[in-house]
Amino acid sequence: MLLGETIGVERRVHGDSLPATRVRPGDVLYSVAVITGPRPRLSVLGTGYLGATHAVCMTELGFEVIGLDVDETKVAMLAAGEVPFFEPGLPELLRKALDSGRLRFTTSYEEVAEFADVHFVCVGTPQRKDGYAADLSYVEASFSTLAPLLTRPALVVGKSTVPAGTAERMAAVVESLAPGDGVEVAWNPEFLREGFAVEDTLRPDRLVFGVRSERAEQALRAAFEPVVSAGCPVVVTDFATAELVKVAANSFLATKISFINAMAEVCEVVHADVTKLSEALGYDNRIGKRFLHAGLGFGGGCLPKDIRAFMARAEELGAQDALAFLKDVDAINKRRRARAVDLGRELLSGQYAGKKVCVWGAAFKPNSDDIRDSPALDVAATVQKLGAAVIVYDPAAMENARRMYPQLAVAESALDAARGADVVLLLTEWAEFREMDPAALGAVVGARRIVDGRNALDPASWRSAGWTYRALGRP
Ligand code: UDX
Repeated sequence: MLLGETIGVERRVHGDSLPATRVRPGDVLYSVAVITGPRPRLSVLGTGYLGATHAVCMTELGFEVIGLDVDETKVAMLAAGEVPFFEPGLPELLRKALDSGRLRFTTSYEEVAEFADVHFVCVGTPQRKDGYAADLSYVEASFSTLAPLLTRPALVVGKSTVPAGTAERMAAVVESLAPGDGVEVAWNPEFLREGFAVEDTLRPDRLVFGVRSERAEQALRAAFEPVVSAGCPVVVTDFATAELVKVAANSFLATKISFINAMAEVCEVVHADVTKLSEALGYDNRIGKRFLHAGLGFGGGCLPKDIRAFMARAEELGAQDALAFLKDVDAINKRRRARAVDLGRELLSGQYAGKKVCVWGAAFKPNSDDIRDSPALDVAATVQKLGAAVIVYDPAAMENARRMYPQLAVAESALDAARGADVVLLLTEWAEFREMDPAALGAVVGARRIVDGRNALDPASWRSAGWTYRALGRP
């Protein structure tokens, strides 16, 4: 704290509470709740997984926040305290944030421009329908709609995952369209995981600030003040590096998963056990055990599309050789899905046609209702095409699955889905499936055959309960 700085809330000098004033020589400050200067007011553009979580968590951290979405239904739901997707802990925090009076939602860009000092752009960048590249239309629309309304100093911060070069382009858009002085762009990639989104936002393991000026860096530090004060490391970079950090991180994670899945392929040939291999590798601190879980591979709204968009961008830049390995990462990942289909067929003596197949799992991972590029539903749809009668159950993603895959039958519970089944395919490792009693399940199925697509079960206890057990990368 500097001499002359304004104290925002309360000031205690020598133990006595005094009204907010300026710091004078000789003052001894006690209060830990002292806030220097007014906090920036924040906006969040796009209220999907990333945006809704960011808006709620920033309110929890003490800021005044306005969230914008072009989807009126989403805005109405959030304003009524309902989270439009499954994310543990978020509904409670949303209601608390709304009750505090510091969070509101709108569809009006004018309101957002008027209200906030720092704007976070959190819209999606899905894979384009015509290829591997990212669809940037929502990012472009957010920047170009907001910019002409910015009549006072503001920082527009991109959080969306974008190809290198986007931040620079958006900065040019904002510079040419913003009527006021002191409007700048920054990039601040987001690393949150679905299922842990609240924790990852309140206590991130690092913050990356892609900036072009000291002023932008300071504005970001102010916008993340509680997180920075709690000791979160900040890496300050240029635009391109900030953009790359995100896709590089996701490429590394995808590569690590495909590495262990490639080892699973080798294990299948030599009758080795990939789960033991992974355990032994993971004790090496240089390798680490996280993201080394072999199974059906990665899916979701980030990893698959991010590595593809990264390859597409590298090709545009003439750097395709550097990322050629990501093609293999993608190919290994897809082969695991095909292998799971094969294992089920082998258990059914080579024929899916006319068989009843129970699929456990629809979400791309447990503790999520997200079915984007879900390995489980991909396998379920393939098995159905091969002539089986498929019945799917998932603890959270049934509604999404029903909407996207109307051809698949669904059940109300794990046991209902398994009733009379010729084979059970465990494809998303929800706790409910991991903890299933093999005897209880054995009592309802047509035949005791199971494919453990996530290496989530103990083979010995299932086999001793009379099950024919098969898994990926494991005898
Ligand atoms: C990911 C990144 O982790 C996150 O930092 C980024 O911001 C967004 O993308 P998310 O998509 O929520 O997050 O899921 P994550 O937990 O990373 O899992 C991705 C996929 O990999 C899932 O399908 C999961 O089942 C699979 N996975 C993960 C494995 O197959 N094996 C593992 O060891 C770990």
